[in-house]
Amino acid sequence: MKVIINIAMTLDGKIDNIARKGAKISSDSDWERVDRLRAEQDAILIGGKTLLGEDPRLTVKSAALRDERVARGFEPDPVKVGIVSNATLSAKSRFLTAGRGKIIIFTTEQSSGEALAFLRDAGVVVCVLGKKRVDLSAALAFLEEHGVEKIMIEGGGGINAAFLTAGLVDEIHVYIAPLIFGGATAPTLADGKGVLDGEKLKLMELEKFDDGGILAKYQVLG
Ligand SMILES: NC(=O)c1ccc[n+]([C@@H]2O[C@H](COP(=O)([O-])OP(=O)(O)OC[C@H]3O[C@@H](n4cnc5c(N)ncnc54)[C@H](OP(=O)(O)O)[C@@H]3O)[C@@H](O)[C@H]2O)c1
Repeated sequence: MKVIINIAMTLDGKIDNIARKGAKISSDSDWERVDRLRAEQDAILIGGKTLLGEDPRLTVKSAALRDERVARGFEPDPVKVGIVSNATLSAKSRFLTAGRGKIIIFTTEQSSGEALAFLRDAGVVVCVLGKKRVDLSAALAFLEEHGVEKIMIEGGGGINAAFLTAGLVDEIHVYIAPLIFGGATAPTLADGKGVLDGEKLKLMELEKFDDGGILAKYQVLG
């Protein structure tokens, strides 16, 4: 399976500001690029704090791109995947209600029986994979068994770090906006506990945007 992390960050590496409410970082042209990249995927994955805090729709926005997917024999939207320790989603969740695509939630034994029953009743495929934290390799194996060959992780910093340290990421695509947020507690591309050696990367592509941003694509060497 090919696993890409796509993220938008400020020049100082922040993927949100200290308020952690999903500050705007991408420009309009970057949003269009992300939409095209989304449309190429079999699945889009997010971490629990992004899922519960930002509650993104994670659908393909462009009608033309959705039509192209259908013409290629796919659903209009990729499968949406959430990795969340305690799956306390509500019936109003945009993640659950936007689009018509399949939704898969990987969670842990911390989720209550009621929460799991609610999700299953809402048509979500729910997998309990771990006591406190989701077993990420098992989650990818499950997705592969269900036909997912290309997946994009759309943050946040905790889930990015977890996939990177588990050696499960092939590429990182990062849009660097001409902005600085600062703030020691603002999330970054890869948070978690940190690694001492550093993840080794190889620059594959660099693109300058008219909005002053930069798109860099890296291969993860591991
Ligand atoms: N700029 C961008 O492109 C972008 C994109 C997405 C998100 N964001 C920002 O990122 C921030 C959220 O990032 P975050 O780091 O707080 O959270 P996150 O990465 O969205 O979610 C991490 C959470 O997932 C749960 N989890 C379950 N199993 C896990 C595992 N094996 N490994 C790691 N986590 C696991 C954990 O919940 P427990 O702690 O309960 O165990 C953990 O807190 C928000 O401010 C959001 O706006 C920015």
